Amino acid sequence: MTTSASDPSGRPPAGGSPRPRPEAGAAAPGGDGARAPDQPRAAAGAGRPAGPAVSLEGVWKAFDDAPVLRGLDLTVPRGSTVTVMGGSGSGKTVLLRLTAGLIKPDRGRIRVLGVDTTPLREEALLPLRCRMGFVFQGAALFDSLTVYENVAYPLREHAAELPEPEVGGRVHRLLERVGLRDVDAKLPAELSGGMRKRVGIARALALGPELVLYDEPTAGLDPTNARLITELIGTLKAEGASETAMIVTHDLEFARAVSDLIAVLIAGRIADIGSPDAVLRSARDEVQAFLAGRAG
Ligand SMILES: Nc1ncnc2c1ncn2[C@@H]1O[C@H](COP(=O)(O)OP(=O)(O)O)[C@@H](O)[C@H]1O
Ligand SMILES: [Mg+2]
Repeated sequence: MTTSASDPSGRPPAGGSPRPRPEAGAAAPGGDGARAPDQPRAAAGAGRPAGPAVSLEGVWKAFDDAPVLRGLDLTVPRGSTVTVMGGSGSGKTVLLRLTAGLIKPDRGRIRVLGVDTTPLREEALLPLRCRMGFVFQGAALFDSLTVYENVAYPLREHAAELPEPEVGGRVHRLLERVGLRDVDAKLPAELSGGMRKRVGIARALALGPELVLYDEPTAGLDPTNARLITELIGTLKAEGASETAMIVTHDLEFARAVSDLIAVLIAGRIADIGSPDAVLRSARDEVQAFLAGRAG
């Protein structure tokens, strides 16, 4: 799966139903519904529940009777960057879509930013999604919108009261933050793959998310661009662009460079989780076999 119409970072939904406002807890101190992207995130606390950013407990998911996740447990601590590694078809994208609430588990429980999403319907999930950013594989930009309008899109949707000069200021700070200048009027088709990823990251950061989900951010890039995206994600982490990042990838070098914790997804469960060094030294044969296929 790369992108689909149901990706929250994807196409505008059909119909003209009213947009929900972000939850009060997601509002910036100025009350404008989105934290300025260039401001450091305020210290945790202030009405935010404690506990991990994400927890999945005993999650099962099958498609057409073929199990993909088989009782998976995973905890993503707040403030951490956790990378789930797994082979092609192992269920990494399924795991992110479950975390985003785009699909439901067959069994098990998923909590995101203090909210048990398992029983929630689409509409009830929208306030939570405003607190999350999504960087989907292939960037999932709006093909017919300029770079400027792609990055402005979440602000227009969820911080509609922002005056245009403020939107422009934020869009330009976001683009600068991901290393892009003078690309406002370009269409996605006019950009390189690496630039499209950057625009996708800028858009994901627009509302000052507490949690960013990244699906294969280096996939499909040449080694130079993959290294640039790795550096960018490392810089964003150092700058506190979001409290927490959950990444899925098959790219071991990238995972080593950006992660506090690496989790290895094998046969529908997390076979091991720990610091990059600890996972590289994993005593589990299946983890070593997986890593051996990824090295180099
Ligand atoms: N919507 C779907 N319908 C049917 N099968 C699906 C669907 N989404 C994922 N799958 C299957 O689940 C497995 C894991 O997919 P995915 O999470 O995309 O793997 P990856 O680790 O490469 O991201 C694959 O076998 C895929 O075909
Ligand atoms: Mg995938």
